[in-house]
Amino acid sequence: MFSNRISDVPKSFIREILKVSADPSIISFAGGLPNRDLFPVENIKDATNKVFDIVGPDVLQYSNSEGYKGLREQIAKRYKSFYGIDVSTKNILITNGSQQGLDLLGKIFLNEGDSVAIEEPGYLGAIQAFGVYKANFLPVTVSEGGMDVEELKSVLQNNEPKMIYTVPNFQNPSGITYTNENRKDVAEVLKGSDVYLIEDNPYAELRFSGSNKKSFMEFLPEHTILLGTVSKTIVPSFRLGWIVAPDIVMEKLLVAKQAADLHTNYFCQRIVDQFLIDYSLDEHIEKIKKMYLSKKQNMVNAIKKYFPEEIEFTDPEGGMFLWVTLPKGISSMDLFDMAIKKNVAFVPGDPFYTNKTGVNTFRLNYTNSDADTIDKGIKILSECIRDIL
Ligand SMILES: Cc1ncc(COP(=O)(O)O)c(C=O)c1O
Repeated sequence: MFSNRISDVPKSFIREILKVSADPSIISFAGGLPNRDLFPVENIKDATNKVFDIVGPDVLQYSNSEGYKGLREQIAKRYKSFYGIDVSTKNILITNGSQQGLDLLGKIFLNEGDSVAIEEPGYLGAIQAFGVYKANFLPVTVSEGGMDVEELKSVLQNNEPKMIYTVPNFQNPSGITYTNENRKDVAEVLKGSDVYLIEDNPYAELRFSGSNKKSFMEFLPEHTILLGTVSKTIVPSFRLGWIVAPDIVMEKLLVAKQAADLHTNYFCQRIVDQFLIDYSLDEHIEKIKKMYLSKKQNMVNAIKKYFPEEIEFTDPEGGMFLWVTLPKGISSMDLFDMAIKKNVAFVPGDPFYTNKTGVNTFRLNYTNSDADTIDKGIKILSECIRDIL
């Protein structure tokens, strides 16, 4: 009955885990949800009223497929102030979250069996989005400091991927950030090829310490496609994101966007635009960073206190996740089965790999639990780890 396209694409494992961990008796480090206490509720209320006052009933009208120009101009300005890069408003397409950006890119680039180079471990949502278009995944290892450049070279020697998908800042799932040198090296390898590099970047602004890194746009301007979102900095429920792409790609994206949903929710675009006009995004992000840093610290301290010494983990300078590596041969899926019986949830590594199962890694989210819960949950997890070792 169903198309080949959808038949063997698995359900999102995380969305399934989230259903289980919605039970309030479970301590969940599984989700990737921004902390609700930080949503700028009053400011969004005010911005909404103002939008009705300023725009009137037209704010409820259909709009254009590219997205609201005022918002796109503000996004372009932010690229200039945050990264120092020039992005033209005409090269920005507003999407229904950056997740739709991934879908549209799959739609315009991928025929069945076309190759996509992807970080290993990589963002599950990208694996799912490109999986629908029957991508042939070419995993390239990412570890502390960034992408394995030699591996990337050999992948490119043997294959012709249409694109390479990266999350170079506080990666989901690992929390890893590529160094500037690594970005330069990756760009060097890609220079001269037809491969488009996708820089999916929801977390860069959530940096607690260290210095901002350069965008791939600086190293590979003609072949970089940027994905952005307000989900982690303002509000996820509006489903507001964007793609920045060169003219020839934008032309195709626009057709795909029109076919998919005509345009992104205009009302929410205007509210976010008004929010950005009336309030300081920097001040708001400072609050987010302060809270997440403290929670990250709680988790790192608890891991140091309770986990056996041989367990490795990342200590990210920003973002929402850290990544744990168990000794070789230990399956994090088995650990998950043990932990969930003791009411602690996390995401086992398996769904972040395109061709491996039973891996020894897993993801922990620290943005959604208070200090005591983090301590308690990590203690329980450490007992499970000691049992499985
Ligand atoms: C790397 C990455 N890309 C895209 C998304 C989806 O974001 P959005 O809410 O903008 O669709 C997420 C959400 O967790 C993510 O971590």
